[in-house]
Parts: sequence; structure tokens; C-alpha cells
Amino acid sequence: MATLVDHASQLLTMAGPEIPRASRDRDRLGLLRDGAVLIDAGKIVAAGPRDRVLAHPLAQGAGRISAGHRVVTPGFVDAHTHPVFAEPRLDDFEARLSGATYAEIAERGGGILWTVRGVRGTPESDLAAGLRRRAFDFLACGTTTIEAKSGYGLDLENELKLLRAIRTVAGRGPLEIVPTLLGAHAVPPELKGRKDEYVASVCGEMIPRAAAEGLAKFVDVFCEDGYFSVADFEKVADAGAKAGLGLKVHSEQLSRLGSLAVAARRGAVSADHLDCADASDCATLAAGSTVACLVPGSNYFLAKPYPPARALLDAGAAVALATDFNPGTCPCWDMRVILSIACTQLRMTPAEALVAATINGAHAAGLGLTHGSLEPGKAADLVCHDAEDYRELAYWLSAPKVRWTMKRGAVVSGEA
Ligand code: NIG
Ligand code: FE
Repeated sequence: MATLVDHASQLLTMAGPEIPRASRDRDRLGLLRDGAVLIDAGKIVAAGPRDRVLAHPLAQGAGRISAGHRVVTPGFVDAHTHPVFAEPRLDDFEARLSGATYAEIAERGGGILWTVRGVRGTPESDLAAGLRRRAFDFLACGTTTIEAKSGYGLDLENELKLLRAIRTVAGRGPLEIVPTLLGAHAVPPELKGRKDEYVASVCGEMIPRAAAEGLAKFVDVFCEDGYFSVADFEKVADAGAKAGLGLKVHSEQLSRLGSLAVAARRGAVSADHLDCADASDCATLAAGSTVACLVPGSNYFLAKPYPPARALLDAGAAVALATDFNPGTCPCWDMRVILSIACTQLRMTPAEALVAATINGAHAAGLGLTHGSLEPGKAADLVCHDAEDYRELAYWLSAPKVRWTMKRGAVVSGEA
């Protein structure tokens, strides 16, 4: 049976061109005041003015869900997360509050390698159980799809273990998960000082195996001083392309190494972080199709300067927003917090932030043609917020509450 969602105070369809939204489309919400969405078999059949949607043959006899004069948006697509780990990093948190830097924490045995130890000592089934619990936290906050990275295993066995845990949870649903192999996240302790050997194993073993087993859609690299160079990034990108995987990159975060230009030239779906991007980088992104995926929750948590969102938007780059949910630099899975930071600190408008968190997030996860907007043929991923005006989503901090979250036509969190 079809489902009709109607009586939204504002329905944000995000309808628009089938490309990452930039320039004059960067804040195009497709806002309807008396809109409706008709859903069948998990997909949107029609979305638009209510009387037009009601005229569709499938609307007769459809089940009704009234949004009760609240805002309805597409589900958030969080295109950058590291959600599979064993424990939070509370000691790092406390050390940083007393003045230790990210680099100092890493040197004294905290940081990414601390999480790696935890992951290596945790069975796949426990990692999957933890991720499954978190999946419902995402859904409760209105996120219907995430991209999820490995990167805390750092050897063949443990990177595959993380990806298999992701596959298990993705297979059970309802949160949709796009898997990314982030083997090149850090050099593992057993190969300290032998980065080239590790990069060779990422390219020669991990990427081919992950691709052959269908465990990853993308490869990603932490391209940063003390981690991986642009030359390493090129090697991983080559291996990923050879294996048929798409490309993403942690780019120009703590320093500007030049990975953004490489990502754009290679047609990466996204270049992420970009805290140190300059005007030429903004122009480079504006000229191509790579999405600038900003993760300002990590800047907030680390108390670091924010990425140049205004310069990117004004240059004509497509901007997405994501949480970067991870135990070290952003312990937040709530996209509404990110919307608040994006508006108050990055000076994005609420409309720009919502485009960035939905349709551009979908593009940054390689799903722009099937997710992220309420248009016929797309996944029926909808969220009803306890708000009358869409600007409230960025205004109330980590609120208003999500009334219900719908994934592929079924209400999976909250009550309709
Ligand atoms: O996106 N920058 C590298 N990776 C993560 C941090 C991961 C961690 O500290 O565990 C990030 O910020
Ligand atoms: Fe990250």
C-alpha cells in the first residue's frame, strides 16, 4: 500500500538539478507550504503541492501520515563518519583540556593508535553490536544514511574486520551505510618508521581484498603532516581506481599539503575538512565536481579555527556538512548540532546548511542521484521535525526533537 505524507508546515523537497548544489542552487530548498509526498515500495512516487499529489492514482487508498503542521525534510546524509570503535577517548579529552595538542596526545600513546589497540582487541561481533546501537542514535537525530570509514584496524585482518562489522549492520538496516576503506589513516605501531611498506600493503592487499569482497565503495586517506603525504595519497588513489573504488580524502585539515587539488583532478566525490584551504583551493573546487565536505564539529571539539565555508560557497564550490563522528575529534552524531555550528561559526545560512546536510551530503557519499532530496524515484527517506519553520533546525541547539524518521517508506524512529 502507498503512503501519503501531508500537512507539513513546510515541506523541503530540495528538488533541483542532478549535480552537487552550488552557486544559485546552494540554498534552494524547494520549500512548499501545503506540500505532500506520495511513497510506494520505499520510493517517492510524487512530491509537490498537495492537490497535485492527491491527483496521483496511487494516492487513492494510500495510508496517511499527517506531519501535524511541522517541518518535513529529507533525511540527513552524513557523508563522513568513523563510527566503529570500542571505547571513547576520555583520557585524551581530559589531557587536551589541560593544554595537550592532538599531536602530543598521539605521541604519548593516545590518539588514533589508542583506538586501534581497542579495535584489535575487540571481536567483530562486538564491534557490530556497538555500531548497531549507534545506528539508532543516528536515526533518532534524523540521519537516514551515513558514510562509515574503517581506519582503526591498520592491518589487513583488522581493517577487513571493521568493514565486515559495517556490512553486518548495514545489512540489518534500517540505517543505510556507505562503507569506506581508510587503511591510510595512520601508520600502525608495528611498522613505525616504515610508512612506505604500510602504504604498499594498503595498496597491494587491503584495497584489492576489500574491493573483491564488496566491502568498500570508497578509499580515503588522512593526508596530513606526520601521517600520509600527497605522494602516498596518489598511490592509494591509483590502487582504489584500479579496484573500481571511488575516492575521498581528509584534506588540508591541520596543514595545507595540496591534496585538495589532487582530489579535484582525480574526480574524488569529496575533499573533507579543508580548514587550511585557500582562495585557489576554493576556485579549484568551484571548477570541478568534488564536494567540499566540511566537518566543523571537529573544529568545535578541538577548539581549532573553522574551515572557510563562506569563501567556498561564494567561489561557487558545492559544500556538504557532516559530523565526522569519531572518538577522538568529534564525539557527536547529531547533524542538528552541526547545523548550528555551521550557521553560528561558519556563517552559513540555515538554507545553505540544510542543502549541505541533505542533497550535498548525498553527493559527497556518492548517492546524489538516489538520496538527499524528495523527488520521484528517490529513496523515501524523510524526517518530521518538531518545528514549524525550517530555520529552527539550526536555531535550537541540538533540538527541536525529531518527531519521526522514515527510511525507505517505513517509520523507523519516533512515532507518526
Ligand atoms: O577526521 N583526521 C583524522 N581522522 C579523524 C580523527 C580520528 C581520530 O582521532 O580517531 C578526523 O578528525
Ligand atoms: Fe574524519
